[in-house]
Amino acid sequence: MARTFFVGGNFKLNGDKKSIKEIVERLNTANLAENVEVVICPPAAYIDYTVQLVNKPQVTVGGQNTYLKASGAFTGENSVDQIKDLGAKWVILGHSERRTYFHEDDKIVADKTKFALDNGVGVILCIGETLEEKKAGITLEVVERQLNAVIAEVKDWTNVVIAYEPVWAIGTGLAATAEDAQDIHASIRKFLVSKIGEKAAEEIRILYGGSANGGNCSTFKDKKDIDGFLVGGASLKPEFVDIVNSRM
Ligand code: G3P
Repeated sequence: MARTFFVGGNFKLNGDKKSIKEIVERLNTANLAENVEVVICPPAAYIDYTVQLVNKPQVTVGGQNTYLKASGAFTGENSVDQIKDLGAKWVILGHSERRTYFHEDDKIVADKTKFALDNGVGVILCIGETLEEKKAGITLEVVERQLNAVIAEVKDWTNVVIAYEPVWAIGTGLAATAEDAQDIHASIRKFLVSKIGEKAAEEIRILYGGSANGGNCSTFKDKKDIDGFLVGGASLKPEFVDIVNSRM
């Protein structure tokens, strides 16, 4: 079945009004492939500003994290309801930087994912192994463990996009080869068939993330289980348009 190509831009803790305006204006003025869904995720402080600037229906805005409650005494957190109120349609959850620096374990990621979905915001769910886990040959055990935690909480996967992001490829310039990524994506999809059913598993987009850029994006083009990218550093640069159009 044809899955709509999906390209997410994770700005991480980068940008200001000037640079974000430049990024959005590049997307607003570029000839973007029609069958691509683009989601740009600025720092939370700029979600409203970014939503106001975007003028293409295929480009929407997302958050980079939300809490597992809507409101209350949780200083510094971001609310699903509040980013939705600002016009965000998606949120990245389970990013390895959240898991590592902010100690978000599988259960926290699962609870946040359920809460976001239950409150009408789509989830870009990040999974992936560390270099040590890759060297130990336990990549599939790791990603299946991360997925099982969410499977235990989430029944409807319609508004979930999975981003397989090998941690050792994030920010290193050393992307996984398209062949290796396809092997992992195929294994993830096969695992999901057994857990959430064939229809849901076939429909879910599985993105690759980890040093994807304008130079390597085309190598992933014909990989049948790679349905897009979650892009970090390159999403801040003009080459992000090339990544969006890499299936043309
Ligand atoms: O969420 C995407 C990010 O982790 C990938 O970062 O800079 O390697 O594209 P980067």
